Amino acid sequence: MLILAIESSCDETAAAVVRMSEDERTILSNVVASQVETHALYGGVVPEIASRAHIEAVSGVVYRAVEEAGVSLSDIDAIGVTYSPGLIGCLLVGVNFAKALAFSLGIPLIPVDHIKSHTAAAYFTDIELCAPFLSLVVSGGHTSLYSVPEPDIYEEIGSTRDDAAGEAFDKVGRVMGLRYPGGAAMDALATEGFENRRSGARSKEDRIRFPSPAINDDTFDYSFSGLKTASVNHIHNLRQKEGLSKTDPIDRAEMAEIACAFTECVVDGICKKLSLAIEKTGCRRLVLAGGVAANSHLRNGIRALCEKKGVKLYMPPLSLCGDNGAMVGAQAYYEYLSGVRGGTDLNAFASGEGAAAAAAVKKL
Ligand code: KG4
Ligand code: ZN
Repeated sequence: MLILAIESSCDETAAAVVRMSEDERTILSNVVASQVETHALYGGVVPEIASRAHIEAVSGVVYRAVEEAGVSLSDIDAIGVTYSPGLIGCLLVGVNFAKALAFSLGIPLIPVDHIKSHTAAAYFTDIELCAPFLSLVVSGGHTSLYSVPEPDIYEEIGSTRDDAAGEAFDKVGRVMGLRYPGGAAMDALATEGFENRRSGARSKEDRIRFPSPAINDDTFDYSFSGLKTASVNHIHNLRQKEGLSKTDPIDRAEMAEIACAFTECVVDGICKKLSLAIEKTGCRRLVLAGGVAANSHLRNGIRALCEKKGVKLYMPPLSLCGDNGAMVGAQAYYEYLSGVRGGTDLNAFASGEGAAAAAAVKKL
């Protein structure tokens, strides 16, 4: 079936057309209009500006997705839309546009959860991927581990108790003077830092050590606030010692070592809990998804862990790690099969948890 999917939960207005069936998962188009340049001026997403930018972009993005797919609106069988979680004003733009379009075309509307969508991006990597599997979603707003017994059922078995990993990457990047969002630049800096360690330019004694985000118990939970604060304090102390102001740039090799030490902690901490979860659940398939799943060091660390444990790993390509419409389309297909529908009364919900968001989704 042909699904038109719309995503507007944060700072990307996105739409895609995907063709999904039991033996086909094809992306016909995937259009993303990013607002990142606008929000970079403020060092983070400004919700009111984001909502207005979605209003301006949504119509053009959706019609471009249909055109690039080489289909017409009358070919579309259903419309999937992100309805939760996210910034409420932003979600409402996508939901209302999708509602109006679905009902004017007389086709089903399928409300889709944003976290499930991130995972669903992995369906495009391998037609063999099917539930049950474990999914680790590491994004700007979430760091959660799910057991997925069916494609539409997500049971959270671990999560962060405070900040998300992406939030910590962005905060440390910002304090170092990197442009928002700092995740990708931190990734490149960490590569430099690891290289400095390997070449001996950074001696073993001079390596920085930060606290692990893995909580020291038998849960699968994380805490990134301690790591974030320790890294930020380290940068402030360094500036103070050098007589620099809060905005002065710091030495490149020091920045690389900080990014490297921070990334090492994130990767080791995530792998430690993941290893425990693999042992306790006996899972044989793992999906790594979300914006931070684009991190090269995290991908390498989890790949090595899965090889050691004999677990098959599915990671979306970098182009499908960040927010996009194709991932919404993939999840919409499985929600459609399980009878999920949205009515004219479909609302958006900032939090994916709770009875209200669940009640908004009707089952046939
Ligand atoms: O999943 P996403 O696009 O949006 C949310 O739903 O939150 O994730 C965005 C996050 C940002 O924090 C960004 O800095 C981070 O993903 N990110 C990265 C990398 N690329 C994007 N973090 C670390 N390394 C990367 N290469
Ligand atoms: Zn996202």
